[in-house]
Amino acid sequence: KTNVWKINPMRVDAHMDEINQAAYLLQQQEVVAFPTETVYGLGADATSEQAVHRIFEAKGRPSDNPLIVHVAESSQVENLVTDIPESAKKMMASFMPGPLTIVLESNGTCAKNVTAGLSTVAVRIPDHPVALALLKASEVPLAAPSANRSGRPSPTTADHVYQDLNGRIAGLIDGGPTGVGLESTVVDCTSDMPVILRPGGITRQQIEDAIGAVMVDPALASTEEKPKSPGMKYTHYAPEAPLWLVDGSDEFFIDQLRNLERDGKRIGIIASNELADQLPQRRVIACGSRNNLKEVAVHLYSALREFKKADVDIILGEAFSEEGYGEAIMNRLQKAAVKKLNQF
Ligand code: TXA
Ligand code: MG
Repeated sequence: KTNVWKINPMRVDAHMDEINQAAYLLQQQEVVAFPTETVYGLGADATSEQAVHRIFEAKGRPSDNPLIVHVAESSQVENLVTDIPESAKKMMASFMPGPLTIVLESNGTCAKNVTAGLSTVAVRIPDHPVALALLKASEVPLAAPSANRSGRPSPTTADHVYQDLNGRIAGLIDGGPTGVGLESTVVDCTSDMPVILRPGGITRQQIEDAIGAVMVDPALASTEEKPKSPGMKYTHYAPEAPLWLVDGSDEFFIDQLRNLERDGKRIGIIASNELADQLPQRRVIACGSRNNLKEVAVHLYSALREFKKADVDIILGEAFSEEGYGEAIMNRLQKAAVKKLNQF
């Protein structure tokens, strides 16, 4: 049975009892889900191999996919790594706490299964009052992947976590919906030129404004290369019904929809407000304006969870621009999709 605590994130000081109960479970090597500013995480003591093993079990996660380690303060990053290069220091100053994860050489403090045998460790400081309070109360670094069953869309509400993991985890702190809606940007800082391994809540432009030119893992742009971030190779974010991405004009999208409906298919739609406004109101989820991709990011994962297999045969998803937050949005949509319909 999973303990659920409801906490108002604006008033964490009034909920220290619940935070301490959750921290106590973590100290007993149990796993507890908690909100961060990006998505809900499934936390366990990163220094305990047994606790970390429970994360992999609860999620059904492949053991060669390493976890991100969360700490409350930048001084604690030093305890986990051999060295913090200049580029990493600058990014820490600009974006931590925040939706950025940096990969550095591990000093071996974390349990071996956290890093899945790699010599490096991924570290982040979440910008969320509940996550920070839990990190402080538990007094250990917390390994925490997204709190979904492996392969499913990441959870942006406690209800999503409950759907996937009820009965499989000791605790769940419900701190309301998360803010960013997509996971952190993962940047490898172990070589001279930092490399973005996973686009996320901090855009490439923001990073370049802070530290100058960065590279992007070539595997992100092709299906041929082996990704450097092990997690990027697995099926991810999959909705219940098959997702088809539609890349073209609104007229093209509407044509594809009509053709499929003519064949008797029941279609769910995930689209911008602008496209949704042109469609009949049936089975359409509008995620936000295509001119405000930050808003689209907030609603994307709950949209992917919304359509049930019993109700729709195919989900048609609108392809967005890959500028700014669009880089992360399209990375997730491309992974979630089984097929792409291109106009050009
Ligand atoms: O926003 C987030 O980052 C959320 C919240 C809960 O903090 N966490 C998250 O964790 O998204 P997860 O496990 O779902 O994704 C971690 C990603 C995976 O793609 C994994 O392969 C990569 O980070 N990663 C972890 N350690 C790594 C390492 N040492 N080197 C390269 N990639 C690493
Ligand atoms: Mg994940």
